[in-house]
Amino acid sequence: MTENERPVYAVVGSGYMGGGIAQSLALSGADVRIADVDIEVARGNRDRLIAEAAQFTADGLFPADASAVIAERITAMTIEDAVAGASFIEEAVPEKIEIKHATLRRISAAAAPDAIIGSNTSTILIGRLAEAVTNPGRFLGVHFSNPAPFIPGVELIPHAGTDEAVLPVVEAIVAATGKETARVKDATGFVLNRLQYALFHEATQLVEEGVATPEDIDTIVRTTFGFRLPFFGPFAIADMAGLDVYAFCYASLQTEFPERFATPPILDQLVSAGKLGTKSGAGFLDVPVERTPELIAYRNKAYVAMKKLIDELGPAPIHPAQD
Ligand SMILES: NC(=O)c1ccc[n+]([C@@H]2O[C@H](COP(=O)([O-])OP(=O)(O)OC[C@H]3O[C@@H](n4cnc5c(N)ncnc54)[C@H](O)[C@@H]3O)[C@@H](O)[C@H]2O)c1
Repeated sequence: MTENERPVYAVVGSGYMGGGIAQSLALSGADVRIADVDIEVARGNRDRLIAEAAQFTADGLFPADASAVIAERITAMTIEDAVAGASFIEEAVPEKIEIKHATLRRISAAAAPDAIIGSNTSTILIGRLAEAVTNPGRFLGVHFSNPAPFIPGVELIPHAGTDEAVLPVVEAIVAATGKETARVKDATGFVLNRLQYALFHEATQLVEEGVATPEDIDTIVRTTFGFRLPFFGPFAIADMAGLDVYAFCYASLQTEFPERFATPPILDQLVSAGKLGTKSGAGFLDVPVERTPELIAYRNKAYVAMKKLIDELGPAPIHPAQD
């Protein structure tokens, strides 16, 4: 492919997340212009991304030619030069609304009117950020996770005024990086952080109540229900467990925590309608009952493969090494 055929993207804020996003986009086949507070900082970040890519290749994490590809495709520029002529621009400046607003104003002023603008914000409502974007129909949240080169999921968050036609274009851009997208409404915490913090909230309560130590809670999460999560989300897991079983468990949890563990109305409705999950052929996900044996076989294979992978990798170096 010649240089002229490559799409041109820009990443504004080339720090930790922006740098990883730029690497992912460059490796997907795009020319990526990175910008930062000034061009010297952007140049330094480009050097860092090239050197880091070489290390990732040495560690077997990036393709053999990644460093050369990134050196060829990533260019350091001013914000104005970077965004002019880019068809997709990702903002990844610090999580402060005044910095994001000022940056989005600069991007809007210099970008083509139809260039799509994404923000990597973790917590700020997209509708609030959109106030600083000219032609805000082309603006949405494109939320990569840390570490961006290696985490495969990206939340796409249109605000109320985002043009529907923008979504498939961004989905294709992210798909080219080998990552997977999911669409999420513009609600505080989006999906990822709302779920992650709900789990963390309950985990810290367990520590405060003296039920278990942080170490033991982490062990339980990693080795039990967390072990399922790379393959199945909470709805697939509930369907496989049986929604009637979930209803019984809620009733039991309510003896101690009636409000915190009130049975979700949506669960009650499904159970009342006889939709008990995989075993009844319908639940949250409507998996046909005849696919159950295939699903169980996949599940078992997945868990054995996961255990093997963890055994091969060894434990995370969180605790001091044992002699
Ligand atoms: N770090 C994470 O785990 C993580 C995960 C998901 C999303 N995010 C989000 O990504 C965004 C960036 O976070 P980060 O961790 O990469 O921060 P970071 O501090 O590593 O990078 C921010 C970059 O923006 C640059 N910058 C600051 N002001 C600027 C300006 N006015 N114009 C241009 N560039 C400017 C900084 O010099 C820096 O290089 C934030 O919105 C954050 O919430 C972070």
